[in-house]
Amino acid sequence: LNNGLARTPQMGWNSWNFFACNINETVIKETADALVSSGLADLGYIHVNIDDCWSNLLRDSKGQLVPHPETFPSGIKLLADYVHSKGLKLGIYSDAGVFTCQVRPGSLFHEKDDADIFASWGVDYLKYDNCFNLGIKPIERYPPMRDALNATGRSIFYSLCEWGEDDPALWAKEVGNSWRTTQDINDTWASMTTIADLNNKWAAYAGPGGWNDPDMLEVGNGGMTYEEYRGHFSIWALMKAPLLIGCDVRNMTAETFEILSNKEVIAVNQDPLGVQGRKIQANGEDDCQQVWSGPLSGDRMVVALWNRCATPATITATWDMIGLESSLSVSVRDLWQHKDITDNASVSFEAQVDAHDCHMYILTPQAVTRSDV
Ligand code: GLA
Repeated sequence: LNNGLARTPQMGWNSWNFFACNINETVIKETADALVSSGLADLGYIHVNIDDCWSNLLRDSKGQLVPHPETFPSGIKLLADYVHSKGLKLGIYSDAGVFTCQVRPGSLFHEKDDADIFASWGVDYLKYDNCFNLGIKPIERYPPMRDALNATGRSIFYSLCEWGEDDPALWAKEVGNSWRTTQDINDTWASMTTIADLNNKWAAYAGPGGWNDPDMLEVGNGGMTYEEYRGHFSIWALMKAPLLIGCDVRNMTAETFEILSNKEVIAVNQDPLGVQGRKIQANGEDDCQQVWSGPLSGDRMVVALWNRCATPATITATWDMIGLESSLSVSVRDLWQHKDITDNASVSFEAQVDAHDCHMYILTPQAVTRSDV
């Protein structure tokens, strides 16, 4: 969407994956505090996004949305002020249907009122869900909120959550800053890998202003191993997915923090070229030995060797697969070991990757020496 936002994928936190409906203003404030004190905010995680269940069960007598009086008694405006005072942005949630998925009031046919009240509260981001949609097509339900948000004059990031319905990559670029390509993620290896493959199909349609959204991160929620979460984070970064943390950042383990704070992997996600990397090779049983790759600014390439097999495997990336000239000599940096591996690889390189682990590299072409000029 051409609203000046999302030049790179959005980064921040969202309440749903860990808290579901158990949210309140204290959790949101403490999360904002933790993003700042942990250093995650400085790494780019600036959106603090409230998901479903912030609203009261009914609109007020004037037909306006109201925050739940017990869990958000101070109101959203004061919360936005608090989040802004920390240098962060506040996100809220509604639904392009008559109710949200947790049966709070939806915004369908209330787009103008709701956009106006979000803007008046100082909201910076709207996630717009797809429940209770009366069977009306998303392409009809999502543009009215875009127009209503635009008409407020406030800059509000517009995140479509239509679960991949009607192939949004084909139409949502003019509608939102990101669109979901799949159903909801859950905190399992099976869900995460399935979603990665579904999102991969739409790589050609992502770019500055509008990104494919394979749903929020599960890193730190406990259902996958350290290696599996490292793969999850690596592939989401490479696919230019939104990096929205979905764990309780007030209580992260050192391992969770190490993954989420990997500056070199974040830089891949936030690279200004904004091209979604993709799966370029899959070998072995069930295609479990995978190479994912994509271009970065400065003629560099990112390459991930993702071992989705149950046993360790040696995975090879050839220049041919990646689309480099075979004579090209490159330096290779390992983004998880934070180490330069070699400064003159050519033709291919390979690594032994543990079961369900993922290595990630940046390849930088060596300056060509032209003795003949
Ligand atoms: C849907 C969305 C989720 C979350 C829940 C909240 O399932 O896809 O991301 O927002 O609703 O109820």
